[in-house]
Amino acid sequence: MKSSLLLSVFLRRCAESRTIVRNFSSVVLKRQVPCLPGPRGMHSRFSSGGCSALMFRRHGVPSQVVELESLELPSVGANDVRVKMLAAPINPADINIVQGTYAILPELPAVGGNEGVAQVVEVGCQVTSLKPGDWVIPRDPGLGMWRTAAVVTEKSLIPLPSDIPLLSAATLSVNPCTALRMLSDFQELKAGDTVIQNAANSGVGQAVIQIAASRGLTTINVVRDRPQFNQLNDRLKAMGASHVITEEALRQPQMQELFKTCPKPKLALNGVGGQSATELLRQIQHGGTMVTYGGMSKRPVTIPVGTLIFHDVKVRGFWVTQWKANHAHDEKAFIDMLDELCTLIRQGKLTAPVCNQVELGDYRRALEAAMEPYTSAKQILVL
Ligand SMILES: NC(=O)c1ccc[n+]([C@@H]2O[C@H](COP(=O)([O-])OP(=O)(O)OC[C@H]3O[C@@H](n4cnc5c(N)ncnc54)[C@H](OP(=O)(O)O)[C@@H]3O)[C@@H](O)[C@H]2O)c1
Repeated sequence: MKSSLLLSVFLRRCAESRTIVRNFSSVVLKRQVPCLPGPRGMHSRFSSGGCSALMFRRHGVPSQVVELESLELPSVGANDVRVKMLAAPINPADINIVQGTYAILPELPAVGGNEGVAQVVEVGCQVTSLKPGDWVIPRDPGLGMWRTAAVVTEKSLIPLPSDIPLLSAATLSVNPCTALRMLSDFQELKAGDTVIQNAANSGVGQAVIQIAASRGLTTINVVRDRPQFNQLNDRLKAMGASHVITEEALRQPQMQELFKTCPKPKLALNGVGGQSATELLRQIQHGGTMVTYGGMSKRPVTIPVGTLIFHDVKVRGFWVTQWKANHAHDEKAFIDMLDELCTLIRQGKLTAPVCNQVELGDYRRALEAAMEPYTSAKQILVL
């Protein structure tokens, strides 16, 4: 009974997310709350002009199904905001949505992209929390951020301070939030404790390294072997990584040497699955936790029986979209988290992931690069 209730709540939220996507990506159909003409003069009954957007009309290979199209924007209603997009990343979830393999899918046609930063250009007459010039990020996924401009409701946006670097702002609301929550909500960690993670060079992994370092945690960072391993090792260590090892080294008995210098991990963060996750599980200390947040290898997680029986390891999952939905009525929790991350950014303790900035017109190359292995760089559309 309880699980069917949970399922229906989840499905309703999925349906709500789809509604958001449909509203946002529709061309001109949008319910308007009328404004009386007033001194602010910000509301127009007419179209707010057009924009360019990366749209997909069917699921498939991203570089083949995504097209650059022109869209007309609806007029700015009383509770609406017109924004100019500044920058938006291409994340694995965005790729999976275009492919049609993600947990939540928009109605088609849809504009791609769930994350990014925009600047407010015009506000409706009843908008109170935003003004022209403010930087904003989407409150929820599904807004379709790969576009040059949009008209959205005030409620769908969260203001962000504009004194942080643009690339940090564009990549703040998914990966650093995921890293911060996983380091905060699953194990009580104190300075000196150890966290182990795979996909350590991913956007999430880089945020984990930096937030963990700011808390005095030791991190063991597992990456796939590559010709430029030493370069990657140096880069992650410069961010605050304590140890960087390859997937192969993780399977060697010499790992025990490493644990003479630091305690065994209380927390493991798994963004890969498959054999990599199994090896993480083997390293965790008694009573520790492994949190799975991604499945880049597309392989299931196999749990060695001994880790459950003899080490009482807990196996959990995390989805930042669900966290945001769970806190939809507690906006302060989200704002506090963004404040904490912005403070780290201003202190120089949290930087944007290594990025390739790409013009919108170069989107096919960016979509292909986002799916290449061993790139260690996030593709960011500069709009
Ligand atoms: N649950 C959540 O709330 C949440 C939030 C954010 C992200 N995620 C998920 O977390 C994962 C990482 O996202 P991101 O934006 O941080 O990624 P990203 O910056 O695009 O980096 C991708 C990472 O995946 C690794 N990778 C790719 N294919 C792999 C494979 N077959 N085996 C092992 N590693 C592989 C890459 O390593 P190489 O350099 O070796 O190619 C790289 O470290 C994705 O699955 C994403 O959907 C989940």
